Amino acid sequence: MLRLLFCLACALILVASSVASAAIVEHSFHVKNLTVRRLCSEQVITAVNGSLPGPTLRVREGDTLVVHVFNKSPYNMTLHWHGVFQLLSAWADGPGMITQCPIPPGGKYTYKFKLLKQEGTLWWHAHVGWLRATVYGALIIRPRSGHPYPFPKPDKEVPILLGEWWNANVVDVETQALATGAQPNNSDAFTINGLPGDLYPCSQNSKQSYVIISSVIMDIRDMNIIGAPTTASPIMPLMPAFNDTPTAHKFFTTITGLADVHLPLGLATAFVVENGPTKESTLPPPPPDLPRC
Ligand SMILES: *[C@@H]1O[C@H](CO)[C@@H](O)[C@H](O)[C@H]1NC(C)=O
Ligand SMILES: *[C@@H]1O[C@H](CO)[C@@H](O)[C@H](O)[C@H]1NC(C)=O
Ligand SMILES: *[C@@H]1O[C@H](CO)[C@@H](O)[C@H](O)[C@H]1NC(C)=O
Ligand SMILES: *[C@@H]1O[C@H](CO)[C@@H](O)[C@H](O)[C@H]1NC(C)=O
Repeated sequence: MLRLLFCLACALILVASSVASAAIVEHSFHVKNLTVRRLCSEQVITAVNGSLPGPTLRVREGDTLVVHVFNKSPYNMTLHWHGVFQLLSAWADGPGMITQCPIPPGGKYTYKFKLLKQEGTLWWHAHVGWLRATVYGALIIRPRSGHPYPFPKPDKEVPILLGEWWNANVVDVETQALATGAQPNNSDAFTINGLPGDLYPCSQNSKQSYVIISSVIMDIRDMNIIGAPTTASPIMPLMPAFNDTPTAHKFFTTITGLADVHLPLGLATAFVVENGPTKESTLPPPPPDLPRC
């Protein structure tokens, strides 16, 4: 009996810990103007919650992340959770005009997704034009409680976000480059956690020093849209013969994105949805409040 009770207690603890290991982590992000001083002068930037970088999000594998975004900036805004596999939550991915239309100035939207089967240090950033230059922060997914790190547990962890700084409004830099067709202006400094290094003018008192031992790997992925199969096994569309220019041209010119823009050439950037065979493995429709154009 004692043994049975003991096992019951074990079972209860197990249930409790598995419940505890899938928390709902909820945050609010206020995106708005922030005046900061860098490289000897003041600059108005767009930032989350008055800091550059924005808040670090810390979750565990299995958690649900809920981020309420209040766009108090003068710009269209979306947030992208860089490197997150959106498992059945593709509508929360965030690229503007691809999975959603932007959150307009004065608008709000709640991103909600589960961080299943993935761990590591990622980042979140604006996904509208160049706003990612100042609207970004770290997203740290630790193993579930009681599960080990896939490497020796570090004594201390310091997120390091590398960036670039312009002595200008980054939206103006982008607009100017698009208008003139010229290269966008080079940045004025490289930054670590939003601060230029000691060797830049007026940057000697940044009070941060790091020794970087391992290298940083940039993960740049481009994906091409083909279609959104709804059957159990994804079906690739029939591609025209390599020399069938009229058909290829027709295919590319009729691809449209959320913005009703016809792309004259090349490929549209979007995503491929691979639904599984069951209802539980099928992408649900977009949330009713997903920003539309
Ligand atoms: C961001 O700022 C808002 C408003 O001050 C606050 O309620 C919220 O908790 C902050 N979020 C984070 C992640 O710090
Ligand atoms: C925010 O900054 C932009 C760009 O500098 C400016 O046009 C706008 O007036 C500012 N908005 C507020 C509310 O300060
Ligand atoms: C880009 O650089 C040029 C040359 O220095 C400067 O005249 C221009 O104002 C810059 N553009 C922006 C948007 O800062
Ligand atoms: C903001 O997004 C809307 C689509 O939701 C688009 O029509 C509009 O042109 C965008 N504004 C700017 C300044 O890009």
